Amino acid sequence: MNIALPLPRIENTLHPNASLEIASLLDGLLQPIARIDSKYFYDDIGCELFNRICELDEYYPTRTEAGIFSLYAQEITQALPSGAQWVDLGCGDCSKSRQWLRHVAPERLIGVDIAGDFLQSSLIELAARNPEVECIGVVSDFTRDLDLSALLSECPDAPPVFFYPGSSIGNFARPDALRLLRNIRRNCGQHGRLLIGIDLVKPIEILEAAYDDAAGVTAEFNLHVLDVVNDQLGSNFNRDNFRHRARYDGVQNRIEMQLVAQREHRVDLGGQTSRYFNTGEHVLTEYSHKYTPDGFGDMLKEAGFGRCQLWTDPDQWFGVFLAEPSP
Ligand code: AVI
Repeated sequence: MNIALPLPRIENTLHPNASLEIASLLDGLLQPIARIDSKYFYDDIGCELFNRICELDEYYPTRTEAGIFSLYAQEITQALPSGAQWVDLGCGDCSKSRQWLRHVAPERLIGVDIAGDFLQSSLIELAARNPEVECIGVVSDFTRDLDLSALLSECPDAPPVFFYPGSSIGNFARPDALRLLRNIRRNCGQHGRLLIGIDLVKPIEILEAAYDDAAGVTAEFNLHVLDVVNDQLGSNFNRDNFRHRARYDGVQNRIEMQLVAQREHRVDLGGQTSRYFNTGEHVLTEYSHKYTPDGFGDMLKEAGFGRCQLWTDPDQWFGVFLAEPSP
């Protein structure tokens, strides 16, 4: 017998503007150094490839963060307000939050993600396993705009805990990362918290291997973005004309993922425009910033947070910050 599970409440704050998206994708491709926003990685195939990356020996962030979470779960929980509204930013399948629910027993879980259908199915499952927690979905591109004030004020006595794991903040250029942290701070009110995972600076060989694994999964992930762009634009990128490259920039403290043209050729960008690539010219597809504990602490302060606690692994490869708003 199939029992229909109740649908969770979903708020949609997304106002997709297809022509604006296309214009901004084209604009990036026509810059002196061509650029594709890393959000285009994550269609269904890209998400699957990213899940495979997380399992690779070379890709240490996922397991290192999970190790910190499991080792310090009790200590972190004690530092969190009880009966909170747990806000998972970019929750995906909610797997990371799921592990926290038994520790933190929040009053509510608010999953925020851009992929509405996936969010709904993730929350149905989560709500079925955790009937005592009210599960709500917010479909939103929180990296552009984050205003949960109306939703959060429905439970004025339950402070929000923003959960942003995986060092996803590292994929933003510094001004955009700061803007997002400020937005989170604004939504925190006086009693909220931010629990955030960040990748730390470490030897270059470890970093570059993590983004250029021996099995070629990251290369496939990077090249796949050309298929996504072809679908979006009707362009004719040929992945055989490009090669994956991951370079660490020690001045900016970031990995840059690139697609390097292997030969001179012209790409039709969907009928109206085209772009010529010289051999060796590259498309920039992703930044992945690495931080020092002090550097990220300073960024949190600049964004309006005050007291911070930090947990790391024995090698100090990854950090988990818990930040309180400054008064
Ligand atoms: C999602 N994000 C935190 C990953 C990272 O490490 O920057 C994306 C990624 N790109 C290549 N490998 C993983």
